[in-house]
Amino acid sequence: MASQLTDAFARQFFYLRLSITDVCNFRCTYCLPDGYKPGGVTNNGFLSVAEVRRITRAFAAMGTEKVRLTGGEPSLRRDFIDIVAAIRENDAIRQIAVTTNGYRLARDVAQWRDAGLTALNVSVDSLDARQFHAITGQDKFHQVMEGIDAAFAAGFDKVKVNTVLMRDVNHHQLDTFLAWIKPRRIQLRFIELMETGEGNDLFSRHHISGMVLRDELLKRGWIHQLRQRSDGPAQVFCHPDYEGEIGLIMPYEKDFCASCNRLRVSSVGKLHLCLFGDGGVDLRDLLAEDAQQQALEARISDALMHKKQTHFLHQGNTGITQNLSYIGG
Ligand code: GTP
Ligand code: 5AD
Ligand code: SF4
Repeated sequence: MASQLTDAFARQFFYLRLSITDVCNFRCTYCLPDGYKPGGVTNNGFLSVAEVRRITRAFAAMGTEKVRLTGGEPSLRRDFIDIVAAIRENDAIRQIAVTTNGYRLARDVAQWRDAGLTALNVSVDSLDARQFHAITGQDKFHQVMEGIDAAFAAGFDKVKVNTVLMRDVNHHQLDTFLAWIKPRRIQLRFIELMETGEGNDLFSRHHISGMVLRDELLKRGWIHQLRQRSDGPAQVFCHPDYEGEIGLIMPYEKDFCASCNRLRVSSVGKLHLCLFGDGGVDLRDLLAEDAQQQALEARISDALMHKKQTHFLHQGNTGITQNLSYIGG
């Protein structure tokens, strides 16, 4: 079926990234180095379960087949399971994923799976407990590792791990990461550090292109794989001797945006056409009643006509994005 969610560059949007909170309990150096500070949110608070249900119903009717819950840290919401269950009501949405810092995994992942979660991305920037603590501000390395084990035990067939690639921090640790995924069905994705409004000093010190790793992988016999239509932006590589895979997310690469297949809704109900865009289109006034669904779909379609061809990161223009916890990366 051709999606109604098609933009002026013939890109189709099968994938919705829905942030359900800005709050995070970690303090990653590249994201929230001073920790979460309340205050950015309107009086109406974060989207309710009923609002999430209406948003995802409208997107599903328009062709969305995958929803990823993001944050902040999405699992800090007490009603996280109800949110997953509300999204699952849509038959058209075949994948429900979450991106998490892993803090609640060990305790809750089995319940998430029972509620209908189908995929899991966990942030792990270092395999050394002390360095993990230094990067995230939380001494939770072992808890997160137990959480990943718990995810496999709960029946997830594969887990994706996000590692933000930082020069002189972890860029020379490829062999350690490869040894870790050799016996595990983990897709470990190195994400190029992205410049944000608050993070430009760190960016200039630690940004390094993922191409350095690409060359290393190809030299060691890793093979580039094809991408599916609702996959995220990673270039994925596999190797016959490894259970795990490696992904590279390189937003500074030429043509990165040509394959963009995702839209974002923030935790206060604004539609963002790009991670690094402008203020977003407010949807919240159309989320109060089921009867507003057609108007909601019309507003989303109209907005899409204004989606730009690419981000402007190369010009150092990070848009409104002060850090990635606001619209969930
Ligand atoms: P899959 O759906 O599992 O393939 O995941 P994903 O890679 O889309 O999701 P995840 O939340 O794990 O994001 C990994 C990294 O990719 C994060 O740092 C995101 O900010 C980044 N990312 C995802 N989509 C985009 C995008 O459209 N533009 C940019 N610049 N970065 C993105
Ligand atoms: N650059 C690259 N990745 C980032 N993330 C957060 N901030 C940045 C940034 N400035 C990543 C997190 C998490 C994902 C949602 O986004 O590590 O895995
Ligand atoms: Fe929290 Fe994620 Fe930002 Fe780290 S990257 S501070 S885990 S929102």
